[in-house]
Amino acid sequence: MEPTVAPLDATLGAVVTGLALGRMDEPTWKTVEAAFHRHAVLVFPGQHLSESEQIAFANRFGDLELLAPDPEQKAVAISNRKPDGSVMKADEHRFKSLRGNEGWHTDSSYMPLAAKASVLSAQAVPPAGGETEWADMRAAYDALDEATRRRIAGLSANHSLYHSQAKIGHVVETGAGYGFHTKGAPLRPLVKVHPVTARPALYIGRHAYGIPGLDPAESEQLLSDLLDAACRPPRTYAHRWQPGDVVIWDNRCVLHRARPYDYGEVRVMRHTRVAGDPATELAPTDRDERARAYEPSTSNR
Ligand SMILES: [Fe+2]
Repeated sequence: MEPTVAPLDATLGAVVTGLALGRMDEPTWKTVEAAFHRHAVLVFPGQHLSESEQIAFANRFGDLELLAPDPEQKAVAISNRKPDGSVMKADEHRFKSLRGNEGWHTDSSYMPLAAKASVLSAQAVPPAGGETEWADMRAAYDALDEATRRRIAGLSANHSLYHSQAKIGHVVETGAGYGFHTKGAPLRPLVKVHPVTARPALYIGRHAYGIPGLDPAESEQLLSDLLDAACRPPRTYAHRWQPGDVVIWDNRCVLHRARPYDYGEVRVMRHTRVAGDPATELAPTDRDERARAYEPSTSNR
């Protein structure tokens, strides 16, 4: 049976039904891959994948980015529930990282090798809120006026998780978790040409700062103006999760954010991240003033 790909009422995203992600044959996979390149966000309701099935699904798109210290751990929980079952408190490091996810961003832009794609599956969802929302940076680029396109054509920005967390009042020590490293802040062009579709897209978000050639205030203003104009309908879609739903998105051309919820409720997502292609997602780094040291590296490990 051919899966059904139903585009969402936005410039990005489609709901894909009539398939089991855990056992796709080759024609079904080809349909999914083509839909991924076309729609950039794919929603698969009610899949209820096991952890190994989710890892295998993400692996179809490429090597996985390892987010935990243990190289055998390919999936991580994005969760406010602690191992003892209690809910995280507002002053905890991990909770502040979760709150950081509520700002528009693209995954791992602060690592030497940015991510290709991300997969989330819902394990436990709060009764209200807690959506994930995506914004189409291809359509956002298309919507720019000619003068803005000319202005940003040669510009790049550094990306740093220290920077984005500091902006929400979370000052983090080097080594405190994934992303808080000494490899430096990658310098990435504001316009990214997609390696498969060749469509230009804005490559911005909360981790971006410090455009070389602009003074810091001017840089901040430009990045926030671009972000503000980009993340609006019809370029956005927010998914209201049900347990068992799976979503994959293309970090090379969409931004995403988590939406707030009652943080006394439990929200548990399982996450797998597909590594970028070094030919197109690896960036040189500059010293990150917020890190303890600068030890340039092309490896995320
Ligand atoms: Fe994210």
